[in-house]
Amino acid sequence: MPTSKFLKEKAAELKKELNLVESAKSEEDYFRKRSDTTMNTRAEQLKDAKNKAFDTVAIWGLYGKEDIQRYKSFTLPLFMTTAGGPYDSLTDGSLLLSYQTTNDPNKIYSRIDNVNPDHLAWKFAALEGLGIPELTQGLCTSSGMSAIMMATMAFLKSGDNFVSSNRVYGGTQQLFGITYPKSGWNVRWIAEPWDLKQWEKQIDKNTKFLFTEFPSNPTLFIQDLPALAELAHSHNIPLIVDSTLASPALTRPLEHGADIVIHSISKVANGSCRCIGGVIVGKEKITTKDKELEKNFVNNLKGGHFRNMGPCLSPFNSMIIWDEMATIRMRMQEHSRKAMKIAQFLENHPAIESVNYPGLKSHPQHEIAKKLMKFPDGTNGYGYLMSFNIKGGLEKAKKFAEAFDFGVQLTHLGGNYTVWVHNATTTHGQMSAEERKVAGISDNLIRYSVGLEGEDDAIKALDKALNKIKD
Ligand SMILES: Cc1ncc(COP(=O)(O)O)c(C=O)c1O
Repeated sequence: MPTSKFLKEKAAELKKELNLVESAKSEEDYFRKRSDTTMNTRAEQLKDAKNKAFDTVAIWGLYGKEDIQRYKSFTLPLFMTTAGGPYDSLTDGSLLLSYQTTNDPNKIYSRIDNVNPDHLAWKFAALEGLGIPELTQGLCTSSGMSAIMMATMAFLKSGDNFVSSNRVYGGTQQLFGITYPKSGWNVRWIAEPWDLKQWEKQIDKNTKFLFTEFPSNPTLFIQDLPALAELAHSHNIPLIVDSTLASPALTRPLEHGADIVIHSISKVANGSCRCIGGVIVGKEKITTKDKELEKNFVNNLKGGHFRNMGPCLSPFNSMIIWDEMATIRMRMQEHSRKAMKIAQFLENHPAIESVNYPGLKSHPQHEIAKKLMKFPDGTNGYGYLMSFNIKGGLEKAKKFAEAFDFGVQLTHLGGNYTVWVHNATTTHGQMSAEERKVAGISDNLIRYSVGLEGEDDAIKALDKALNKIKD
């Protein structure tokens, strides 16, 4: 009998494999059992992650001892390949390609799976699942938009409808309002999403899900997620939340009743602003009228719409975002602290009409934000994004854009760099004036994403530009 720890572990590992081989009734049986073992190990790791600190999960995800030994690297290596392979045998290949086994993400084909997006998806699944007893599943996509598309279209057949807050990102408005109707998928917009009665009125027997953004871009509306989830579930439909602006460091919507959460990981998930990407995380079992979608929704997407339409995330982007997620909590905390200081400064400036920032007491849903936007240690934070209205309308907003000399005038958000934009002429420029009004985008609105630069530099520059445009 071996005496050292290493030899004992080695013997146990070999015995386990020998047992699997000897007890297999056929080659197929062996591969199925091996796949079950892999998935059970990941499920155990996910369960285990629930007892760990947020930062531990953000750093390691499910990249554990076995992965390190297997890849001989304590950092997640890059699998920059279209397909890893090889299959162990014909039977192995046949089971893998018919999605009956999933023992190695690198053996399929990188449009469907690859070690890097696989680990990034596990990391997000683990983080979003921290506050709930259920297991979660994740899937990375090529962008935030494709994450929204994948998470929603699976529910829709021609003639179906869904209900969405109209306080959503401009791209989502275009997808739901212009692209989807061409397939007979009908969005019912809610103009005042804080009013649950408006949501309830729009739900009928063909409604497949409710959709909202938390917080909303660019108006920073805060949805009461538990109340909306309760409403969705009372109609036996899921709540889908775009939680890009909150990130799992601040709010985990599944904990507040949502069934599926999506992120544009082009934002704070990679503060260096290098990559476009998206992710979907769902509970193992979701509330839906469609029995086929109820269990393993996200995992099934992978072998269905996702495989067929091809919006995969590149291994390279996955690797960068996986690394960047290690510091998400620290960055969000700094973003939030700086943003609060800047929001308070703006609120007191005579050239400013109003400031939308959930951390301010003047924000109409501040009390809800206080309940739902919390760091893992229970302290509040309100994120990096704010928007503000310049006194004097469109002309003054344009003057501000000319006078302000800090960060970059650009449509982006959530990065280490301060970025700001005049929405009515850019992100929401394709909407009619009436549509913008309904969506809360006034002509004098500036969206401002607080970066990690020194906040006093930002305040100085804001003060200079605002004083310049004052009457
Ligand atoms: C809240 C929100 N959701 C989704 C998206 C779309 O993400 P992507 O640009 O990664 O497709 C954006 C982009 O700005 C966004 O702000």
